[in-house]
Amino acid sequence: MTFSTLYNNAKIATMTSDKPYGLIENGALVISDGWIKWIGQKKNLPSEFRTLSEKNLEGRLLTPALIDCHTHLVYGGSRATEFELRLKGASYEEISGRGGGILSTVKSTRNASEEELFAESLPRFDAIIAEGVGTVEIKSGYGLDLHNEIKMLRVARKLGKERNVRVKTSFLGAHAIPPEFTGKADAYIDYICSEVLPAVHEENLADAVDGFCENIAFSTKQISKVFEKTSMLGLPMKLHAEQLSNLGGAVLAANYGALSADHLEYIDQNGVDAMAQSGTVAVLLPGAFYTLCETKLPPLKALLQAGVPLAIATDCNPGSSPLTSILLCMNMACTLFGMTPEEALSGVTRVAAKALGIGNEVGTIEVGKKAEFALWNVDQPAELAYRMGYNPLAEMIIV
Ligand code: NIG
Ligand code: FE
Repeated sequence: MTFSTLYNNAKIATMTSDKPYGLIENGALVISDGWIKWIGQKKNLPSEFRTLSEKNLEGRLLTPALIDCHTHLVYGGSRATEFELRLKGASYEEISGRGGGILSTVKSTRNASEEELFAESLPRFDAIIAEGVGTVEIKSGYGLDLHNEIKMLRVARKLGKERNVRVKTSFLGAHAIPPEFTGKADAYIDYICSEVLPAVHEENLADAVDGFCENIAFSTKQISKVFEKTSMLGLPMKLHAEQLSNLGGAVLAANYGALSADHLEYIDQNGVDAMAQSGTVAVLLPGAFYTLCETKLPPLKALLQAGVPLAIATDCNPGSSPLTSILLCMNMACTLFGMTPEEALSGVTRVAAKALGIGNEVGTIEVGKKAEFALWNVDQPAELAYRMGYNPLAEMIIV
Protein backbone atom coordinates (compact mmCIF):
# COMPACT_ATOMS: atom_id res chain seq x y z
CA MET A 1 0.00 0.00 0.00
CA THR A 2 1.37 3.43 -0.88
CA PHE A 3 1.30 6.20 1.67
CA SER A 4 0.65 9.66 0.23
CA THR A 5 0.47 13.13 1.75
CA LEU A 6 -0.44 16.52 0.33
CA TYR A 7 1.90 19.35 1.35
CA ASN A 8 -0.04 22.50 0.82
CA ASN A 9 0.30 26.30 0.91
CA ALA A 10 4.03 26.79 0.30
CA LYS A 11 6.15 29.08 -1.79
CA ILE A 12 8.20 26.43 -3.58
CA ALA A 13 11.70 27.17 -4.91
CA THR A 14 11.91 24.18 -7.23
CA MET A 15 15.32 25.26 -8.66
CA THR A 16 14.26 23.81 -12.00
CA SER A 17 12.68 26.12 -14.59
CA ASP A 18 13.88 29.36 -16.20
CA LYS A 19 11.79 31.38 -13.75
CA PRO A 20 13.86 32.86 -10.90
CA TYR A 21 14.41 30.03 -8.39
CA GLY A 22 11.81 28.02 -10.34
CA LEU A 23 9.39 29.61 -7.88
CA ILE A 24 5.80 28.35 -7.54
CA GLU A 25 3.53 30.63 -5.48
CA ASN A 26 0.66 28.97 -3.57
CA GLY A 27 2.29 25.66 -4.31
CA ALA A 28 1.34 22.15 -3.36
CA LEU A 29 3.14 18.83 -3.49
CA VAL A 30 2.02 15.23 -3.38
CA ILE A 31 4.49 12.87 -1.78
CA SER A 32 4.13 9.12 -2.18
CA ASP A 33 6.35 6.76 -0.24
CA GLY A 34 9.10 9.36 0.00
CA TRP A 35 9.01 10.45 -3.66
CA ILE A 36 7.54 13.55 -5.31
CA LYS A 37 4.51 12.49 -7.29
CA TRP A 38 2.92 15.78 -8.20
CA ILE A 39 3.85 19.46 -7.92
CA GLY A 40 2.07 22.62 -8.94
CA GLN A 41 -0.30 25.34 -7.81
CA LYS A 42 -2.97 24.15 -5.41
CA LYS A 43 -5.72 25.30 -7.78
CA ASN A 44 -4.46 22.80 -10.38
CA LEU A 45 -4.40 19.82 -8.00
CA PRO A 46 -5.90 16.77 -9.76
CA SER A 47 -9.10 15.57 -8.10
CA GLU A 48 -7.60 12.16 -7.22
CA PHE A 49 -5.32 13.92 -4.68
CA ARG A 50 -7.97 16.13 -3.08
CA THR A 51 -8.82 13.70 -0.32
CA LEU A 52 -5.26 13.03 0.85
CA SER A 53 -4.21 13.86 4.38
CA GLU A 54 -2.80 17.34 4.28
CA LYS A 55 0.03 19.27 5.90
CA ASN A 56 -0.29 23.04 5.76
CA LEU A 57 3.07 24.78 5.27
CA GLU A 58 1.53 28.16 6.12
CA GLY A 59 2.94 30.13 3.22
CA ARG A 60 6.58 29.41 4.09
CA LEU A 61 9.40 29.00 1.58
CA LEU A 62 10.19 25.40 0.67
CA THR A 63 13.53 24.59 -0.98
CA PRO A 64 15.28 21.33 -1.76
CA ALA A 65 17.21 20.15 1.31
CA LEU A 66 20.60 21.84 1.00
CA ILE A 67 23.74 19.93 0.08
CA ASP A 68 27.25 20.63 1.40
CA CYS A 69 29.28 18.95 -1.34
CA HIS A 70 32.85 19.48 -0.03
CA THR A 71 33.87 19.03 3.60
CA HIS A 72 36.74 17.61 5.63
CA LEU A 73 34.70 17.65 8.83
CA VAL A 74 36.07 14.44 10.32
CA TYR A 75 39.38 15.33 12.00
CA GLY A 76 41.10 15.43 15.36
CA GLY A 77 42.38 18.51 17.17
CA SER A 78 42.35 22.16 16.20
CA ARG A 79 44.61 24.55 14.29
CA ALA A 80 43.83 27.76 16.17
CA THR A 81 47.56 28.31 16.75
CA GLU A 82 48.11 28.44 12.99
CA PHE A 83 45.35 30.99 12.76
CA GLU A 84 47.38 33.13 15.16
CA LEU A 85 50.56 32.53 13.12
CA ARG A 86 48.84 33.52 9.89
CA LEU A 87 47.56 36.70 11.52
CA LYS A 88 51.19 37.51 12.33
CA GLY A 89 52.10 37.14 8.65
CA ALA A 90 52.98 33.45 8.07
CA SER A 91 51.43 32.01 4.90
CA TYR A 92 49.50 28.74 4.58
CA GLU A 93 52.32 27.34 2.41
CA GLU A 94 55.03 28.38 4.93
CA ILE A 95 53.18 26.74 7.80
CA SER A 96 52.71 23.62 5.71
CA GLY A 97 56.42 23.63 4.76
CA ARG A 98 57.35 23.62 8.46
CA GLY A 99 55.40 20.42 9.03
CA GLY A 100 52.32 22.23 10.33
CA GLY A 101 49.16 22.56 8.29
CA ILE A 102 47.56 19.35 7.11
CA LEU A 103 50.27 17.25 8.79
CA SER A 104 49.50 18.64 12.21
CA THR A 105 45.90 17.50 11.78
CA VAL A 106 47.16 14.13 10.55
CA LYS A 107 48.96 13.73 13.87
CA SER A 108 45.89 14.52 15.99
CA THR A 109 43.64 12.42 13.78
CA ARG A 110 45.94 9.41 14.03
CA ASN A 111 46.07 9.84 17.80
CA ALA A 112 42.29 9.77 18.17
CA SER A 113 40.36 6.51 18.52
CA GLU A 114 37.39 5.92 16.21
CA GLU A 115 35.05 6.79 19.10
CA GLU A 116 36.95 9.99 19.92
CA LEU A 117 36.98 11.03 16.29
CA PHE A 118 33.26 10.46 16.06
CA ALA A 119 32.63 12.47 19.24
CA GLU A 120 34.79 15.37 17.99
CA SER A 121 33.18 15.42 14.55
CA LEU A 122 29.52 15.10 15.56
CA PRO A 123 29.10 18.73 16.75
CA ARG A 124 30.48 19.99 13.42
CA PHE A 125 28.17 17.67 11.52
CA ASP A 126 25.24 18.84 13.66
CA ALA A 127 26.10 22.50 13.05
CA ILE A 128 26.06 21.93 9.29
CA ILE A 129 22.83 19.96 9.15
CA ALA A 130 21.07 22.44 11.46
CA GLU A 131 20.85 24.82 8.50
CA GLY A 132 18.62 22.67 6.31
CA VAL A 133 21.35 20.40 4.95
CA GLY A 134 20.21 16.91 3.96
CA THR A 135 23.38 15.66 2.25
CA VAL A 136 26.97 16.14 3.39
CA GLU A 137 30.09 15.08 1.53
CA ILE A 138 32.94 14.07 3.84
CA LYS A 139 36.52 13.40 2.79
CA SER A 140 39.24 11.34 4.39
CA GLY A 141 42.80 12.63 4.00
CA TYR A 142 44.02 13.18 7.57
CA GLY A 143 44.83 9.52 8.15
CA LEU A 144 47.18 8.90 5.21
CA ASP A 145 47.69 5.23 6.04
CA LEU A 146 45.49 2.18 5.73
CA HIS A 147 44.26 2.04 9.31
CA ASN A 148 43.60 5.75 9.76
CA GLU A 149 41.99 6.43 6.37
CA ILE A 150 39.59 3.56 7.05
CA LYS A 151 38.96 4.91 10.55
CA MET A 152 38.03 8.35 9.17
CA LEU A 153 35.71 6.95 6.52
CA ARG A 154 33.96 4.67 9.01
CA VAL A 155 33.35 7.69 11.22
CA ALA A 156 31.92 9.58 8.22
CA ARG A 157 29.48 6.74 7.47
CA LYS A 158 28.55 6.49 11.14
CA LEU A 159 27.71 10.22 11.32
CA GLY A 160 25.21 9.79 8.50
CA LYS A 161 23.59 6.81 10.20
CA GLU A 162 23.47 8.54 13.59
CA ARG A 163 21.53 11.53 12.22
CA ASN A 164 19.76 9.85 9.32
CA VAL A 165 21.33 12.28 6.87
CA ARG A 166 22.88 11.23 3.55
CA VAL A 167 26.68 11.20 3.69
CA LYS A 168 28.74 10.83 0.52
CA THR A 169 32.34 9.94 1.25
CA SER A 170 35.44 10.76 -0.78
CA PHE A 171 38.77 9.00 -0.33
CA LEU A 172 41.45 11.70 -0.18
CA GLY A 173 44.58 9.62 0.38
CA ALA A 174 46.44 11.97 -2.00
CA HIS A 175 46.01 14.97 0.34
CA ALA A 176 49.56 15.28 1.74
CA ILE A 177 52.72 13.22 2.06
CA PRO A 178 52.74 11.60 5.52
CA PRO A 179 55.94 11.87 7.65
CA GLU A 180 56.93 8.22 7.05
CA PHE A 181 57.13 8.98 3.28
CA THR A 182 58.94 12.36 3.46
CA GLY A 183 60.79 12.90 0.18
CA LYS A 184 59.13 9.82 -1.32
CA ALA A 185 55.94 11.16 -2.81
CA ASP A 186 55.91 8.64 -5.68
CA ALA A 187 56.30 5.74 -3.28
CA TYR A 188 53.41 7.11 -1.22
CA ILE A 189 51.21 7.35 -4.32
CA ASP A 190 52.08 3.73 -5.16
CA TYR A 191 51.18 2.72 -1.60
CA ILE A 192 47.76 4.36 -1.67
CA CYS A 193 47.02 2.96 -5.14
CA SER A 194 48.08 -0.59 -4.36
CA GLU A 195 47.05 -0.95 -0.71
CA VAL A 196 44.87 1.76 0.76
CA LEU A 197 42.39 2.53 -2.03
CA PRO A 198 41.63 -1.13 -2.81
CA ALA A 199 40.99 -1.86 0.88
CA VAL A 200 38.79 1.23 1.25
CA HIS A 201 36.85 0.18 -1.84
CA GLU A 202 36.52 -3.39 -0.60
CA GLU A 203 34.76 -2.10 2.52
CA ASN A 204 32.57 0.17 0.37
CA LEU A 205 33.84 3.19 2.25
CA ALA A 206 34.43 5.55 -0.69
CA ASP A 207 31.73 6.96 -2.97
CA ALA A 208 34.39 8.94 -4.88
CA VAL A 209 38.14 9.57 -4.95
CA ASP A 210 39.63 13.03 -4.49
CA GLY A 211 43.17 14.45 -4.59
CA PHE A 212 45.09 17.64 -3.86
CA CYS A 213 46.92 18.80 -6.98
CA GLU A 214 49.24 21.57 -5.80
CA ASN A 215 52.90 22.50 -5.35
CA ILE A 216 52.63 21.71 -1.64
CA ALA A 217 50.90 18.39 -2.40
CA PHE A 218 50.85 16.26 -5.61
CA SER A 219 51.67 16.81 -9.28
CA THR A 220 49.28 16.10 -12.16
CA LYS A 221 51.38 13.02 -12.95
CA GLN A 222 50.94 11.65 -9.44
CA ILE A 223 47.22 12.44 -9.42
CA SER A 224 46.87 10.68 -12.81
CA LYS A 225 48.15 7.49 -11.20
CA VAL A 226 45.49 7.73 -8.51
CA PHE A 227 42.83 8.43 -11.14
CA GLU A 228 43.94 5.46 -13.27
CA LYS A 229 43.42 3.19 -10.29
CA THR A 230 40.14 4.92 -9.52
CA SER A 231 38.79 4.28 -13.03
CA MET A 232 39.79 0.64 -12.76
CA LEU A 233 37.67 0.40 -9.63
CA GLY A 234 34.81 2.22 -11.35
CA LEU A 235 34.61 5.08 -8.86
CA PRO A 236 33.95 8.74 -9.73
CA MET A 237 36.64 11.39 -9.23
CA LYS A 238 36.95 14.87 -7.77
CA LEU A 239 40.00 17.11 -7.47
CA HIS A 240 41.30 20.03 -5.38
CA ALA A 241 42.73 22.07 -8.24
CA GLU A 242 44.32 25.48 -8.82
CA GLN A 243 43.80 26.65 -5.23
CA LEU A 244 47.19 28.29 -4.68
CA SER A 245 48.76 28.02 -8.15
CA ASN A 246 47.96 26.61 -11.59
CA LEU A 247 49.31 23.12 -12.25
CA GLY A 248 46.69 22.13 -14.81
CA GLY A 249 44.60 20.14 -12.34
CA ALA A 250 41.30 21.33 -13.80
CA VAL A 251 42.22 20.05 -17.28
CA LEU A 252 43.32 16.76 -15.76
CA ALA A 253 40.05 16.40 -13.81
CA ALA A 254 38.04 17.23 -16.95
CA ASN A 255 40.01 14.71 -19.03
CA TYR A 256 39.08 12.00 -16.56
CA GLY A 257 35.43 13.10 -16.61
CA ALA A 258 35.63 14.01 -12.91
CA LEU A 259 32.43 14.99 -11.14
CA SER A 260 34.02 18.21 -9.93
CA ALA A 261 37.16 20.30 -9.66
CA ASP A 262 37.20 22.37 -6.51
CA HIS A 263 38.68 25.76 -5.38
CA LEU A 264 39.89 27.03 -8.82
CA GLU A 265 41.08 30.52 -7.87
CA TYR A 266 44.05 30.09 -10.26
CA ILE A 267 42.25 28.28 -13.11
CA ASP A 268 43.01 29.60 -16.63
CA GLN A 269 40.87 29.65 -19.78
CA ASN A 270 42.16 26.22 -20.84
CA GLY A 271 40.92 24.76 -17.60
CA VAL A 272 37.58 26.55 -17.91
CA ASP A 273 37.05 25.28 -21.47
CA ALA A 274 38.00 21.73 -20.56
CA MET A 275 35.56 21.71 -17.63
CA ALA A 276 32.77 23.13 -19.78
CA GLN A 277 33.32 20.42 -22.31
CA SER A 278 33.29 17.55 -19.85
CA GLY A 279 30.44 18.94 -17.72
CA THR A 280 32.70 18.88 -14.65
CA VAL A 281 31.22 20.98 -11.84
CA ALA A 282 33.27 23.88 -10.45
CA VAL A 283 32.95 23.80 -6.66
CA LEU A 284 33.89 27.22 -5.31
CA LEU A 285 34.91 27.45 -1.66
CA PRO A 286 34.57 30.99 -0.33
CA GLY A 287 35.38 29.92 3.26
CA ALA A 288 38.93 28.97 2.24
CA PHE A 289 39.31 32.11 0.12
CA TYR A 290 38.25 34.20 3.11
CA THR A 291 40.29 32.36 5.76
CA LEU A 292 43.51 32.46 3.75
CA CYS A 293 42.91 36.14 2.88
CA GLU A 294 43.29 35.11 -0.76
CA THR A 295 43.13 37.99 -3.21
CA LYS A 296 42.92 36.08 -6.49
CA LEU A 297 39.25 35.54 -7.23
CA PRO A 298 38.00 32.47 -9.09
CA PRO A 299 37.07 33.70 -12.61
CA LEU A 300 33.32 33.64 -12.13
CA LYS A 301 32.48 35.39 -15.41
CA ALA A 302 34.64 33.05 -17.51
CA LEU A 303 33.13 29.99 -15.79
CA LEU A 304 29.57 31.26 -16.31
CA GLN A 305 30.20 32.30 -19.90
CA ALA A 306 31.60 28.87 -20.75
CA GLY A 307 28.60 27.22 -19.08
CA VAL A 308 30.51 25.43 -16.32
CA PRO A 309 28.01 24.40 -13.60
CA LEU A 310 28.80 26.20 -10.33
CA ALA A 311 28.46 24.73 -6.86
CA ILE A 312 29.63 26.13 -3.55
CA ALA A 313 30.49 24.38 -0.28
CA THR A 314 31.85 25.06 3.20
CA ASP A 315 35.12 23.09 2.75
CA CYS A 316 34.76 22.63 6.55
CA ASN A 317 38.31 21.78 7.68
CA PRO A 318 40.58 22.78 10.57
CA GLY A 319 43.10 24.76 8.51
CA SER A 320 41.85 26.73 5.57
CA SER A 321 38.12 26.86 6.29
CA PRO A 322 36.84 26.24 9.82
CA LEU A 323 33.32 26.95 8.57
CA THR A 324 30.24 24.97 9.56
CA SER A 325 27.59 27.23 8.02
CA ILE A 326 26.27 26.64 4.52
CA LEU A 327 24.17 29.83 4.78
CA LEU A 328 27.23 31.95 5.57
CA CYS A 329 28.98 30.18 2.68
CA MET A 330 26.14 31.35 0.40
CA ASN A 331 26.49 34.87 1.71
CA MET A 332 30.26 34.81 1.11
CA ALA A 333 29.79 33.43 -2.41
CA CYS A 334 27.68 36.51 -3.18
CA THR A 335 29.73 39.13 -1.34
CA LEU A 336 33.22 37.82 -2.12
CA PHE A 337 32.77 36.09 -5.50
CA GLY A 338 29.92 38.15 -6.96
CA MET A 339 27.45 35.31 -7.32
CA THR A 340 23.73 36.10 -7.23
CA PRO A 341 21.64 34.73 -4.33
CA GLU A 342 19.95 32.48 -6.89
CA GLU A 343 23.31 31.12 -8.13
CA ALA A 344 24.29 30.58 -4.49
CA LEU A 345 21.10 28.60 -3.81
CA SER A 346 21.47 26.49 -6.94
CA GLY A 347 25.11 25.99 -5.90
CA VAL A 348 23.99 24.28 -2.69
CA THR A 349 21.08 22.36 -4.26
CA ARG A 350 20.85 21.40 -7.94
CA VAL A 351 24.52 21.83 -8.85
CA ALA A 352 25.86 20.47 -5.55
CA ALA A 353 23.86 17.29 -6.24
CA LYS A 354 25.53 17.04 -9.65
CA ALA A 355 28.96 17.49 -8.00
CA LEU A 356 28.19 14.36 -5.98
CA GLY A 357 26.68 12.36 -8.84
CA ILE A 358 23.23 12.30 -7.22
CA GLY A 359 21.50 14.84 -9.43
CA ASN A 360 18.89 12.35 -10.53
CA GLU A 361 17.69 11.84 -6.93
CA VAL A 362 17.95 15.15 -5.10
CA GLY A 363 18.81 18.83 -5.53
CA THR A 364 15.58 20.07 -7.14
CA ILE A 365 11.88 19.79 -6.36
CA GLU A 366 10.32 17.94 -9.28
CA VAL A 367 8.36 14.80 -9.98
CA GLY A 368 10.46 11.67 -9.59
CA LYS A 369 12.91 13.13 -7.06
CA LYS A 370 13.16 12.29 -3.38
CA ALA A 371 11.07 14.22 -0.90
CA GLU A 372 13.89 16.01 0.93
CA PHE A 373 13.13 19.63 1.70
CA ALA A 374 14.01 22.53 3.94
CA LEU A 375 11.20 24.81 5.11
CA TRP A 376 12.19 28.38 5.93
CA ASN A 377 10.77 31.32 7.89
CA VAL A 378 11.60 33.82 5.16
CA ASP A 379 9.53 35.78 2.67
CA GLN A 380 11.81 35.51 -0.33
CA PRO A 381 14.57 33.10 -1.34
CA ALA A 382 17.27 35.81 -1.51
CA GLU A 383 17.03 36.05 2.30
CA LEU A 384 18.87 32.75 2.61
CA ALA A 385 22.07 34.29 1.23
CA TYR A 386 21.44 37.78 2.60
CA ARG A 387 21.81 37.29 6.33
CA MET A 388 24.94 36.46 8.32
CA GLY A 389 24.85 34.31 11.42
CA TYR A 390 21.09 33.77 11.49
CA ASN A 391 19.35 30.49 10.88
CA PRO A 392 15.77 30.87 9.62
CA LEU A 393 15.12 27.14 9.23
CA ALA A 394 11.59 26.22 10.32
CA GLU A 395 11.82 22.49 9.69
CA MET A 396 13.54 19.79 7.67
CA ILE A 397 11.10 17.61 5.80
CA ILE A 398 12.71 14.32 4.85
CA VAL A 399 10.03 11.79 4.03
O1 NIG B 1 40.30 22.10 0.85
N1 NIG B 1 43.35 22.17 -0.02
C1 NIG B 1 43.51 21.14 0.61
N2 NIG B 1 42.74 20.71 1.57
C2 NIG B 1 41.94 21.51 2.40
C3 NIG B 1 42.72 22.11 3.49
C4 NIG B 1 43.00 21.15 4.49
C5 NIG B 1 43.74 21.67 5.68
O2 NIG B 1 44.38 22.75 5.65
O3 NIG B 1 43.67 20.95 6.66
C6 NIG B 1 41.16 22.53 1.60
O4 NIG B 1 41.35 23.74 1.71
FE1 FE C 1 39.04 20.82 0.57
